[in-house]
Amino acid sequence: MKKAISIILMMTMVFVLSTGCSSDSGSEQQQAETPADGENNKLVMYTNAEFAPFEYFEGEKVVGVDPDIVQEIADEMGKELVIEHTDFDSLIPSLVAGKADLVAAGMTINPERAEEVDFSIPYVESIQNIISKNDAEIKSMEDLEGKKIGVQLGTTGDLAISDAVNLEDGDLYNTGAEVKTYANALEAAQDLLNGRIDAVIIDEMPAEEIVKNNSEELVTCIFGEISEQYGIAVEKGNTELLEAVNNTLQKLLDEGKIEELIAKHSN
Ligand code: ARG
Repeated sequence: MKKAISIILMMTMVFVLSTGCSSDSGSEQQQAETPADGENNKLVMYTNAEFAPFEYFEGEKVVGVDPDIVQEIADEMGKELVIEHTDFDSLIPSLVAGKADLVAAGMTINPERAEEVDFSIPYVESIQNIISKNDAEIKSMEDLEGKKIGVQLGTTGDLAISDAVNLEDGDLYNTGAEVKTYANALEAAQDLLNGRIDAVIIDEMPAEEIVKNNSEELVTCIFGEISEQYGIAVEKGNTELLEAVNNTLQKLLDEGKIEELIAKHSN
């Protein structure tokens, strides 16, 4: 039943407005010496480590839910895990170019991306949130009229808000609302704290992490009700790797390990 619902949600992205607020909170880990070629004994993961709890820097090292999951996959395959950090919007091009074996980046499965890469089974459910200053009274999408809104370039948050602002039938069309894109979501949060923008649209758990770290100043609320599922991406047609990824993901899901990892990497 749950699976059937997930599949339906994956195929149809229903967009319904909703409100509700709550208050809470670079570089490379290991250089890949060679591009991913399947010949060597390395499993090369590309990610964008500005998205705690899924991936973030601890010193020079990329850690988080996705690195832990992919470490498990690498262990099962008897391969050495190599993690590369890059901009979010370069992840799929890197995979398509054969530089990475897989992308694990809290990446939402959507039809456009699925034309370029193959996705694993979904492993996390999410939804977009709005982060704003706690005195700004932003409690839903309508409150974004006329506001400056920051997003990480190429994310589903970027797509959702850009549609709302730029499409003629969008909820924020012609309201004076503006979208500002950032390569790094944490820079968007910094600009919000500095008052350069009024809001940031980002996935729920990363929003909560950012707000927890700035709980005196920031709040988060739900942006819309597009349910999103995260998947790990592999090159189109790499069925052998996809099978290994899915087997490990299913095992981790069955054992409740993904939730444990989220708890472990959340503040
Ligand atoms: N889930 C969103 C998307 O797929 C945001 C992912 C951002 N991930 C990251 N590692 N920065 O577009």
